[in-house]
This record gives sequence, structure tokens and C-alpha cells, in this order.
Amino acid sequence: MGPEPQKVLDYHGDNAIFMVWNFKPGIAVKDSFQRVCALVINLNNSAGNRFPDSGASCVMGIGHDAWLRLELPTPLPEELENFAPVIGEKHTAVSTKGDLHFHIRGTGKSLCYDMASAIAEVLSPVATSVEEVHGFRYWDGRSILGFVDGTENPQGKDRAYFGLIGDNDPAYRGGSYLFVQKYIHNLAAFKALTVEEQEKVFGRYKWDDVEMPDDIKPANSHIALSNVGDDLKIIRDNMPFGNMSTNEMGTYFIAYASTFTTVKKMLDNMFIGLPPGNYDRLLDFSTAKTGTLFFVPSATFLDNVAS
Ligand code: HEM
Repeated sequence: MGPEPQKVLDYHGDNAIFMVWNFKPGIAVKDSFQRVCALVINLNNSAGNRFPDSGASCVMGIGHDAWLRLELPTPLPEELENFAPVIGEKHTAVSTKGDLHFHIRGTGKSLCYDMASAIAEVLSPVATSVEEVHGFRYWDGRSILGFVDGTENPQGKDRAYFGLIGDNDPAYRGGSYLFVQKYIHNLAAFKALTVEEQEKVFGRYKWDDVEMPDDIKPANSHIALSNVGDDLKIIRDNMPFGNMSTNEMGTYFIAYASTFTTVKKMLDNMFIGLPPGNYDRLLDFSTAKTGTLFFVPSATFLDNVAS
């Protein structure tokens, strides 16, 4: 039997908490990391046992520098590195530091909150929380821009094929590359467009979520550039968030993939453009504030670290 993956392939819950933590410099962190590995296993088992219908789960990812500091096995997962920014003529996919990433999801908020709080208790002495986003399901799975997000995601058996490492890196079988970006939208500018213009930004119709025919879909629409072929897919689990007092409305973009190369190809198309200069129109209304690559080892791997 192969290693048991973390709950990478779970479907959206109605709520999510995304957290990025960075280890404090100059202190020993291995013991706390061991505890957090045990805790993640514990939280998932406990949620499944106590609230089987809650859809609650917690997935932990580890950044390149943290992997080295924690002296986790070498050679590293083949594609684990610090994300190099993708710099286009007009828009940049920035790179920001992240040691540990937590993706907590569930139907209700209470369990998500308790999971985040238990993790914070273990990590606070040795690490700083640098990002925390509370995402929510907006109507029928729409981004805060009003378009349904997630429709073309792989379904069923395809999810494991596109989401988990297999023979491409046998030492890390059951693991996954995790790439996240926190986007802030210029909602006022997007809302100022007519619905027809908004639809051209995505390449899909707004109300019924149907894809535009190829002869109408603009070459700089989001789906024309992010669709890099039927054999190159990723698992997206984006969630919207919004805060009236700071006027920060956004999308937490989160993708799991068996290979980071696929995500990188999408980012190149979006930010540099295909051909170069024909960049993703969505970026005129969305700014990436963070961008970090993590590796999500299997649950079996976490269990071994914990024991
Ligand atoms: C499709 C929203 C960023 C990759 C879509 C769709 C929406 C959407 C509404 C159409 C429905 C669907 O199939 O899900 C957004 C928003 C983003 C964002 C609001 C952030 C501002 C990204 C990024 C990537 C990406 C950074 C890749 C690195 C994809 C892919 C598809 C897609 C692969 C499916 C294309 C297809 O096969 O038709 N996105 N997206 N998206 N997006 Fe994004």
C-alpha cells in the first residue's frame, strides 16, 4: 500500500482559513514542528470521528527554506524551490516568504476556527503568523467578482492523477505541490464594466457559467490563457474574502498539482502573455499581493516525523 495523502483532494467546504507562518530566526524549531505534524494528523482524525459530515480538514504545506532548516530528507522534492517572481510588461506575480501553510476547510466555521487556534497555540512560541485569510463560499461558488470559480476543475479519479505525485518522484509519492497567491480586486473598476465586457475578461457567461465559443472568446481572456491543455490540469480551491473597513475584496488562489511546471506555465501565460504582451485581462482588475510555493508531503510522511 502506498503512502496516504493529506486531504489535498477534498472538495470545497463553505468556509476556509488559510494561514502562513514563518519561523522566528535563531531558535530551535524542530520539536514544535514535530508537535504540529502530530497535531495535523490528530485534527483530521478527530474531525472525521466527531463530525463525519463536517467536510472539515487541514492540509499543511512546507516551504523550501523551512524544509532545509527542519533538516527534512534530501534530496528535496524535485521541484521544491523558492518561487521566482513572474515579471510581465505590466503585471508581476510577486514572491513572498512562507515556511508553513495551513489550508483549513469545513462546512461550519467553528471547527475551522478551533483547528486554526490549536495550530496557533503550538506554533506561536517559535513562529509568526504572516498571513491569515478567512474565505467563504459566495452564493453558488462565485468569486467576489461575480463569476463562478472552479467549474473546469478535475473531477473524480482525475483529481488524484493531476493533484498527487506518483511515479514522477517516487520518494515523495502521495505528496503535492501547493501554490498560493492572495489577490486583491479593484472591484469598483470591474463593476464599472458592462456585463458583456466582464464576460470577455473571463471568457465565460456570467449568469449561467457557460464557456464562450472559441471564435468569440478573446485571446486575452482568463480561461483562454489559463487553459494549457487537457493533459495539464491543476486542482484549484480558491475562496473569496472581503473586508469593508479595509476595502480589501479578493480571491485567495490556491492550487495543488502533481508538478509545479503546470502551474508555472499558467502563470507565464497570464503574466507574460501568449504571445508575450497578450497578458490576462483579469490582472487589470486583480493584484497578486503574495505568491509562495510549498510542498505538501503525504500524511504518512507527517506521521513518521511526528513519531
Ligand atoms: C478558470 C477565477 C487566478 C487557473 C477560472 C474561472 C474563474 C477563475 C471564474 C472560470 C471557471 C472555472 O473553470 O473555474 C480566477 C480568479 C483568480 C484566478 C478570480 C485570481 C484573481 C488563477 C491563476 C491560475 C488560474 C493564478 C493559474 C496559475 C485557472 C484554470 C482555469 C481557471 C486552469 C480553468 C481553465 C479552463 O480549462 O477552462 N478562474 N482565477 N486562475 N483558472 Fe482562474
